[in-house]
Amino acid sequence: MAKKKMKKILVIGSAGQIGSELTMALRKKYGNDNVIATGRKTKPSDEILNSGPFEYIDITKKETVEEVIKKYDIDTIYNMAAILSAVGEEKPDLCWHVNINGLLNILDLSVEYKLTRVFIPSSIAVFGPETPKENTPQDTILKPTTMYGITKVTGELLSEYYVRKYGLDVRGIRYPGIISSETLPGGGTTDYAVEIFYEAIKNKHYTCFVREDTVLPMMYMPDCIKATIDLMEADFKKLKHHCDFNVAAMSFSAGELAEEIKKYIPDFTCEYKPDFRQEIADSWPKTIDDSVARKEWGWKPSYDLSSMTKEMIEILQKRYEEGKL
Ligand SMILES: NC(=O)c1ccc[n+]([C@@H]2O[C@H](COP(=O)([O-])OP(=O)(O)OC[C@H]3O[C@@H](n4cnc5c(N)ncnc54)[C@H](O)[C@@H]3O)[C@@H](O)[C@H]2O)c1
Repeated sequence: MAKKKMKKILVIGSAGQIGSELTMALRKKYGNDNVIATGRKTKPSDEILNSGPFEYIDITKKETVEEVIKKYDIDTIYNMAAILSAVGEEKPDLCWHVNINGLLNILDLSVEYKLTRVFIPSSIAVFGPETPKENTPQDTILKPTTMYGITKVTGELLSEYYVRKYGLDVRGIRYPGIISSETLPGGGTTDYAVEIFYEAIKNKHYTCFVREDTVLPMMYMPDCIKATIDLMEADFKKLKHHCDFNVAAMSFSAGELAEEIKKYIPDFTCEYKPDFRQEIADSWPKTIDDSVARKEWGWKPSYDLSSMTKEMIEILQKRYEEGKL
């Protein structure tokens, strides 16, 4: 009997906050040698380097991606490379170049090399000031005010176009702010919800760059990885949406997060000095309606504010005591 061909997966952005943990989760699930990790300039973790193949690529240089697709006979891509919201406001042209021209390279190569499946992440940044802020619906007004948000709406539309025009299997999730303990975030508006844990443990004090009453949708990394892999494993025929799924896990204010951390570190203090990122945060929703993702591919989160905080503190406290934070 012919042996079933193993998936050959390319992860782009393996040194990033999500890409680093996604690479290891995919290696665990599909086998180390079947998951090719890549970075642009930043070296990924030793764990990634020592557990399987690694290559340097730049998604804005099509030939660098093409070489890796050919070399490893890639059939699945997770494109986790992007310029995030805060950096995108400082470098809007770079944000467009990477998030759109880079994305087009990935989509075109996927058609050319007849890839079986592609994952293109979107973000709650697709929403804007005119979008309903509470229980934001799946299909609603998409008029973002940041360059990052503009690239994410464009990316959703472009990806959906490739589904319709070329029959390419592209899927994507509108991630909320992702909280994690392994790799620091790379310049987004929700970075405060990660930094606060590191500073609480190291210095018992944090200066937060958004107001205390700023509420945003967030998700803990294990749920983010689960959502990503679950969507990629879903039956394509059952999906009515493809590249723009709302997913939700928890929503809280910066002040509520600080209070939750205080339960474990009673002398922790937090002050609030909003900067340019406040305006970005104010343009995004507070809570998300993810009933479509629940219906179409069975999405269900596992972590809330209290279980996420408990686990983050346990992991980072241990690392601090070992002198590795
Ligand atoms: N982290 C979040 O809270 C969050 C929320 C919503 C959406 N997202 C989306 O999820 C995806 C992953 O985000 P992340 O938080 O891991 O980002 P990150 O900034 O931590 O990592 C992105 C990686 O992309 C790489 N990169 C940048 N330009 C590149 C290029 N030209 N070629 C190849 N690689 C390049 C960077 O080196 C970096 O390692 C992105 O599409 C992002 O927009 C993230």
